[in-house]
Amino acid sequence: MPPRKVTGRIDWVGAVDWDRRLFDGIIPLPGGTSYNCYIVRGEEKTALIDAVDTSFEEELFTNLFKSGISSLDYIVVNHAEQDHSGSLPFILDLFPNAKVVTNGKCAELLTELLLIPGDRIMVVDDRQSLSLGGVSLQFLIMPWVHWPETMVTYCPEEKILFSCDLFGAHYATSKLFAGDDEEIRVGAKRYYAGIMMPFRTTIRNHLEVIGDLDIEIIAPSHGPLYDQPGQMIDLYKGWVSEDHSNDVVIAYVSMHGSTKKMVNKLSDELIALDLNPVLYNLTCSDPIEIATSLVSAATLVIGTPTMLFGPHPLALSAAHIVNMLRPDTKYLAIIGSYGWGGKAVETIDGMLNHIKAERIEPVYVRGQPDEQDFAAIAALAEKIAGGHRELGLLG
Ligand code: FEO
Repeated sequence: MPPRKVTGRIDWVGAVDWDRRLFDGIIPLPGGTSYNCYIVRGEEKTALIDAVDTSFEEELFTNLFKSGISSLDYIVVNHAEQDHSGSLPFILDLFPNAKVVTNGKCAELLTELLLIPGDRIMVVDDRQSLSLGGVSLQFLIMPWVHWPETMVTYCPEEKILFSCDLFGAHYATSKLFAGDDEEIRVGAKRYYAGIMMPFRTTIRNHLEVIGDLDIEIIAPSHGPLYDQPGQMIDLYKGWVSEDHSNDVVIAYVSMHGSTKKMVNKLSDELIALDLNPVLYNLTCSDPIEIATSLVSAATLVIGTPTMLFGPHPLALSAAHIVNMLRPDTKYLAIIGSYGWGGKAVETIDGMLNHIKAERIEPVYVRGQPDEQDFAAIAALAEKIAGGHRELGLLG
């Protein structure tokens, strides 16, 4: 992808990764991704905002060349994760007079992860400004967007916020701006769910700081830019809020059909009670899609048979991912079937120790569910509905 003009003084010079299908060895990327970085030209100095994944460093070099960049004074690093910083050693070799500009925590991580020498790093404080001549960069340290060292960079003269991962989307596109593309907003929610959901309280505070800035463009480090920044900020405010939907996420796996029959019965009962069951068969579901549903769902049900001496491994994996991402789920139940024992319910429940949801009595049956078991499932649906009613989600 060639360089693109964002404003008179700012170019996009990143890379679009159309082919990438997995991030961190676990997060599916159905729509690829991009590693955005930007050139800001002042009258005296030139800065690069973030860099790209190591695999695209030559593309970054080409884009810098095409943008007419023959020297760089600063490389602002908003975040040390290697999809943005991996090409930093290469860029520092290309521009031996350039300094990395970042906060103290990020400087530590860059030294540890990429062996960046300390004398190449200029450490800045929260809200410190750096003049490039006629245009400036202000650094706002915002820890725990999902790592401890994250910050954003604001250019007041151009009214643009370089937000790095915040507001990003793993989404490969030739569009520079998202416009009204709903698919990109879905990608942004998926991105939030997959890496930022555990830090929603912190992000809520960061959104207040960002709300005080005069922003016309949000320029994240993944996916397209937003020239209606209020829309994206409002979406984030909704995702980090304590509001819940009437959804009941049922993530399940069934070996010989018994757990599936229980899931189907529960789904039917929930629908009859005006709740919205959202079913994910774990043999063919994307874990981040489940996480995305859990951004607002009031209830999670995990359905698992016993396999040998414990829960099915796919249910274990799902429980582990949910526990890592810590959705604000209010009610939790476990259902399933066993043959000759095991501790599936206790094991799954124990793995969900970060989920503070109220536990509803599990329905765990021996063999194929009978009428009595289906009555227990109907009672479970009633209890879930009662919980949703308490939350004001049902009339
Ligand atoms: Fe896009 Fe946290 O790196």
